[in-house]
Amino acid sequence: MRERPLQLLQWYDRNARAMPWRVPPADRQAGVLPDPYGVWLSEVMLQQTTVAAVRDYWRAFTQRWPTVADLAAAKDADVMGAWAGLGYYARARNLLKCARVVVADHGGRFPSNHATLLSLPGIGPYTAAAVAAIAFDRPETVLDGNVERVMSRLYDVHTPLPGAKPELMALAAALTPVERPGDYAQAVMDLGATICTPKSPACGLCPWRDDCCARLAGTAAELPKKTPKKAVPVRRGIAYVARRADGAWLLETRPEKGLLGGMQGWPGSDWSDDPQPAAPVDADWQKLDATARHTFTHFHLELVIMTATLPQSAVAGRGAFVPHCAFQPTSLPTVMRKVYDLAQGALI
Ligand code: ADE
Repeated sequence: MRERPLQLLQWYDRNARAMPWRVPPADRQAGVLPDPYGVWLSEVMLQQTTVAAVRDYWRAFTQRWPTVADLAAAKDADVMGAWAGLGYYARARNLLKCARVVVADHGGRFPSNHATLLSLPGIGPYTAAAVAAIAFDRPETVLDGNVERVMSRLYDVHTPLPGAKPELMALAAALTPVERPGDYAQAVMDLGATICTPKSPACGLCPWRDDCCARLAGTAAELPKKTPKKAVPVRRGIAYVARRADGAWLLETRPEKGLLGGMQGWPGSDWSDDPQPAAPVDADWQKLDATARHTFTHFHLELVIMTATLPQSAVAGRGAFVPHCAFQPTSLPTVMRKVYDLAQGALI
């Protein structure tokens, strides 16, 4: 094998991070490959989320739904509830769609080639490459944020992201070996996550330290360059948290399309510069002396919280009452959970 991939694989053999969905390099070399379902699930969860945050969710999902057929047969609301807290909820809706297509069209087995994987819901070029490489040992090239950083430094690329992606992809692809491509894909990502980190990279420990172009040029810490992002605007809204005399909570399921689509939440106003009151029921609403703040990809949200205690006879104009015993705060998306955490003291 050419020298660079081999150097990295030897580093990986000693330093691979343990992950519940990962088969360690020694076992892979003995011929053991991971379950494609577990790999796919981990890769979808890991998009925009850290390994530390994903571990428990991955275990919970695979215990509750051990196979893709189990997941395909799950109720949508159960899967959305189990996903709550991971964010980017379109991923969870696509996860279910994908599981159902794998069962309906592929006999419950994940396809092993990149093009067929790419045709599945929610699977883009990165996930298709990751599943093909990690679960099937296909020589595909993964390019996530970690790999972009590693390549930009190894070759001292100063073109700013995202414009540099094709260039970095070509460089990464030229390095991808035909031997042990699954371990290699995981090795570059681990290198980026643990050694070639965004701030203060540990160059002294890097298997590529001797011929890393950015290290030789002294530019590692300033790479990759990024095109400045637009400032993130602030939007405001009003959330209404109501509790009936018997302890039931007034919740609504958000529309499938749009932000937090399909997730449970508190009824509320629009989220804008000038939100209009939209109480879901007539009541003596009290403004809470606290604001819930949450940052989405494209804006910061500040929610004013209104609370009310309702008589048993209350009729909701929007949403539905969920009995206290069936109410699971952990099934709420994070912003709604923040509202609950602030409001609950006022409603006990
Ligand atoms: N980040 C996303 N997927 C990963 C993987 N399979 N190994 C290491 N880091 C990752």
